[in-house]
Amino acid sequence: MTTTIDTRARAAVRDLTSYRPGKPIEEVKRELKLASVIKLASNENALGPSPKAVAALKQAVGSLHRYPESTCPILRAKVAKKLRVDPASLIFGNGSDEIIVLALRAFVDPGDEVVVATPTFLIYELQAKACGAEVSVVPLRDYRYDLTAMMKAVTPHTKLVFIANPDNPTGTYVTAKELKMFLGSIPDQTVVFMDEAYYEFVEASDYPQTLSLTEEQSLIITRSFSKAYGLAGLRIGYGIAREGVIAAMEAVREPFNVNSLAQTAAAAALDDTAFLSKTRRLVQEGRSYLTKELDRLSVRYVPSVTNFILLELGPRAQDIARALLSRGVIVREMSAWKLTGHLRVTIGTMPENRRFISALKQCLAQ
Ligand SMILES: Cc1ncc(COP(=O)(O)O)c(C=O)c1O
Repeated sequence: MTTTIDTRARAAVRDLTSYRPGKPIEEVKRELKLASVIKLASNENALGPSPKAVAALKQAVGSLHRYPESTCPILRAKVAKKLRVDPASLIFGNGSDEIIVLALRAFVDPGDEVVVATPTFLIYELQAKACGAEVSVVPLRDYRYDLTAMMKAVTPHTKLVFIANPDNPTGTYVTAKELKMFLGSIPDQTVVFMDEAYYEFVEASDYPQTLSLTEEQSLIITRSFSKAYGLAGLRIGYGIAREGVIAAMEAVREPFNVNSLAQTAAAAALDDTAFLSKTRRLVQEGRSYLTKELDRLSVRYVPSVTNFILLELGPRAQDIARALLSRGVIVREMSAWKLTGHLRVTIGTMPENRRFISALKQCLAQ
């Protein structure tokens, strides 16, 4: 939708461009009259949802007439046990997306500064601007967060700094050493938001383990059930921080922000270790297959630790995205990130990965 925003809307809102998600499969089928379409555009879990979550959901639907438990007590206890953190250091959201909004609402007044990178997850800048914040945007360097430059962008007026680790859309990460140096330079009034939506996919030994850092630092860590656990459609994620920081976000949280089915499914998915292992294996195998094939096709890409890969296709990128779509393959076109010449592809099942490569070969040959 491209309708102009009503002129009576707040000034901060009038200038915003709303977030456009990846195209849904059904929409592409309808519009292009295609019988078979695959979606490799939103970094979802190609295996579907956790089977344990699906089984638990079937039991839970009979209670839909009841409001959900506001504090997610069962899930909270499970996550706290798994992560070995105090249950009071957790907050649950309608997707980890909502924790971004809660952090902004809790810590940022209009006119305060927020530091973000570019390109990164678009919601940080969008929501910070909606709060009336002054947003400092720091470019990545060689597709990686430039924490030295971000450090320099922090002023006495900076209330929040967002770091996606790993980053979306690049799939790169900041190391434990880089993060330690960065956190050491951050003043007391600034809260650092570490978005770890893709945490479960990372195997690199120098990737920072951040949980223990919440004790000494104003740090909010977020994780998601949308990716490795396959529950994107239910919308559930959580934040971890020290109690005072959590209390600030709890103060602005709506009472029933996480629905009962999401709570039930997430609690069951946490126990589904077989599904998690299978998902990780699928992503590793898919990544290795795709990168080998891309090398063969001489297509450049950014090495990724996640379930997606950013491709550098040059001036033909948009045409290639359209040509892939006409062959029933939805990938993410990157103009919203101002990353011209790039496409992002989510790692799918092996048949999906093969179909993508075969379609890409045809498009490149055109
Ligand atoms: C970096 C990053 N953070 C957060 C999210 C949102 O995740 P959720 O579905 O938990 O709201 C995404 C989703 O794509 C993401 O890429």
